[in-house]
Amino acid sequence: MSSNNVTLTTPDHSVSLPLVEGSLGPSCVDIASIYRETGHFTFDPGFAATASCKSAITFIDGEKGVLLYRGYPIEQLAEQSRFLEVAYLLLEGELPGTAEMAGFEDAVTHHTMMHESLKNFLRGFHYDAHPMAMLCASIASLSAFYHDTLDINDPAQRKLAAIRLIAKMPTIAAAAYRYSIGWPIRYPRNNLEYVDRFLHMMFEVPSEPLEMNPVAAKALDLLFILHADHEQNASTSTVRLVGSTGANPYASVAAGIAALWGPAHGGANEAVLKMLAEIGDAKNVDKAVARAKDKESGFRLMGFGHRVYKNFDPRAKIIRAMCHDVLDKLGVNDPLLEVALKLEEAALKDDYFISHKLYPNVDFYSGLIYKALKIPTEMFTVMFAIARTAGWIAHWIEQHEMPGGRIGRPRQVYVGAEPREYVAIDKR
Ligand code: CMC
Repeated sequence: MSSNNVTLTTPDHSVSLPLVEGSLGPSCVDIASIYRETGHFTFDPGFAATASCKSAITFIDGEKGVLLYRGYPIEQLAEQSRFLEVAYLLLEGELPGTAEMAGFEDAVTHHTMMHESLKNFLRGFHYDAHPMAMLCASIASLSAFYHDTLDINDPAQRKLAAIRLIAKMPTIAAAAYRYSIGWPIRYPRNNLEYVDRFLHMMFEVPSEPLEMNPVAAKALDLLFILHADHEQNASTSTVRLVGSTGANPYASVAAGIAALWGPAHGGANEAVLKMLAEIGDAKNVDKAVARAKDKESGFRLMGFGHRVYKNFDPRAKIIRAMCHDVLDKLGVNDPLLEVALKLEEAALKDDYFISHKLYPNVDFYSGLIYKALKIPTEMFTVMFAIARTAGWIAHWIEQHEMPGGRIGRPRQVYVGAEPREYVAIDKR
């Protein structure tokens, strides 16, 4: 890394600001001294041009559609790796050797059980609670179960929390789903691999054996790889912001789950399927596109657009191909696929979408695949959360390992009332 300087001139000051260079990507102007030197803050709502931290985990080039986990292209990982290996890579920085992988897999496998008391906690929810609400609250509650290992300054305890979160997230997610439909909760079967184990906990019923479907398992594993990390997105930034206060890993990740839930972020996959169902038929697509262009309508094409990707989302490219393949292999003929294809085609040749650089994102096709795997719509964002846990906890650990960490505390442009005198209630 090298550093140069840029000069910022205001009417009263000229200040020299260092440039921070990463190993890839644009350099950043270090503005930490700007208020001290000039009396000005900087203003960047939505952090469109502000780097909040240094990170060595994931790199995105939004113009070129590049996504790298620890330097490895997402296309290669999608083709050749599997989710648990990717989780190891995100956490440790390197691909594991055979013994390292076996050790990691063993550790994850032997932390899959959830505390029996957590069932009572889940029972406190109304039967129709959204599974994201149950997941968020249950993950926050883990800090109450493991308060003896919450020393965030102890690397071994940090690692243990990472293993527990990756291991228990599918167990709790499946339990939340089964509770909501009145099925008995299933214990994790440790003779199964990560994704199969999750599918078993979701779909096994006491009355008949569950036939595991390798196509479904492979598809889900691939979706988990694609969702595993995405640098400083809203939920990861939330995990880091909460983590910056010294909060424990379970509380920090629960905050990430809450941030993921919104339809502008991970909630988009659920919103896409609801939108496609509302559109209903390929013949209604043009009307939907027109509505999305009308700012007064308040309607956006869900699964379109991205803050960082301005040409294409490399994950969407992989998922699009995979969607056709999985639906074919599973023999699913979903009329919503036709609506999705027509919508994509109509938007991609529309001037508004072209000029605004709006392309299908990772969530546009993922919902159709989840639907084909018989995952219910309200579980889609939960699926995203299971995968993103690997990224969230890798960032939380990195934040504690990297020197110079400070509490996150943005400033503001105050636009409220000027100082004024209090008036007694009978005089107002
Ligand atoms: N449909 C119609 N218009 C859109 C859309 C859309 N999906 N997305 C952005 N625009 C327009 C927006 O109205 C604005 O137009 P103008 O400049 O004329 O006022 C312009 O494009 C820029 O939009 P923005 O909201 O300032 O862009 P952003 O970078 O702040 O937001 C986004 C990015 C992903 C939140 C947004 O594109 C969106 O709401 N997309 C739909 C929700 C979605 O699919 N989210 C999943 C994102 S990928 C997975 C993840 O991150 O979890």
